[in-house]
Amino acid sequence: MTQTDLRTAMSRNFETSLAKAAAKERLAPRADLVALEGYHSPQVTASVRLNTNESPFPPPAAWQEALADEVASIDFHRYPDRGATELRSAIGHLHGVGPEQIFVANGSNEVIQTLLLTFAGTGRTVATFEPTYALHSHIARISGATVVSGERGSDFVLSEQELGRVIDLHQPQVTFLCSPNNPTGVVDSQVLVHQALETAPGIVAVDEAYGQFASWSALSLVSEELPLVVIRTFSKTWSMAAARLGYLVGPAWIVNELLKTVLPYHLDAIKQVAGCLALRYEADMRQRVTEVVVERERLTLGIAALPAQVWPSQANFILFRPTAVAAGVVWAALLQRSVLVRNCASWERLEGCLRVTVGTTSENDQFLAALREILGAS
Ligand SMILES: Cc1ncc(COP(=O)(O)O)c(C=O)c1O
Repeated sequence: MTQTDLRTAMSRNFETSLAKAAAKERLAPRADLVALEGYHSPQVTASVRLNTNESPFPPPAAWQEALADEVASIDFHRYPDRGATELRSAIGHLHGVGPEQIFVANGSNEVIQTLLLTFAGTGRTVATFEPTYALHSHIARISGATVVSGERGSDFVLSEQELGRVIDLHQPQVTFLCSPNNPTGVVDSQVLVHQALETAPGIVAVDEAYGQFASWSALSLVSEELPLVVIRTFSKTWSMAAARLGYLVGPAWIVNELLKTVLPYHLDAIKQVAGCLALRYEADMRQRVTEVVVERERLTLGIAALPAQVWPSQANFILFRPTAVAAGVVWAALLQRSVLVRNCASWERLEGCLRVTVGTTSENDQFLAALREILGAS
């Protein structure tokens, strides 16, 4: 056989094998994931984007400049510091703990994922209190765990009775609280955190993605002795959603376990530098939080003056239910005016509700003017 014949024969064989591979039945995902729906947060174009609870303000220009300088000196042919030691030390310093009590990841979603891969999974139970942040139960299911859902009341406040009922009945390995809770803006009280810590058999995770906007934080309770973790993010108050950086504060033994589960070198060098630099601008962050809180109160009053039910929020967003016009119609009419809010109308327990993120003064004015017009109150 000549070289050409050999090549022709081989290419025919390759074609046949590829054709056979293409004809094979597609592999279904794991049976327990078949019913799972992906996380949907539509990225629609609008000039006023108030749908994903981001900060309306960019980070300080000085941070951006310093970041560009630091990035220029990164050794890109080397892996980043696997332990993210400097970043964990800096975050620890912010909260008055050592780096061994800090776990960092690509957004708080990855923190939640690592926590659940480590402490949930097949044969274990995770408790959430609905309505709450969908990713807690979503990732718990992906981990293979059984999710049990307690119910928040009609005012979206979680009662001690309901918390007790779910913990007594299901003895969850991981109990999620969310404070302030997304999408309601309601804070889970100190009493609830104490009760969960006293009665839940496993870990109590308090998601404080919006913690700096609220009147109290569970951070002060974190200690080596308690099975408590508090989850925070750079996405909201630190104005760094694009950087994807989140963290957890908890006892060192929990952090150690998470470090065994997470992928090696998961946190890239740019992100580590970005996080360290951001912490130098804490005062700017606090100033932005103050501005958002002032605007939040103004927005709440503005919505409350319209035909709509509105829930007081301690976060950077507000949940409301138009009472005179269907929520879906309001959502579409807002979008027609280039104002994008989150449509929660079809979400279980949130029928007819919309959620608006607090924007800049000008964005909030545009939102309120559009809403007034739509609800016929101009
Ligand atoms: C309550 C809560 N936790 C966690 C996250 C995830 O944030 P990130 O992954 O951007 O840190 C969000 C995002 O909206 C949230 O609302």
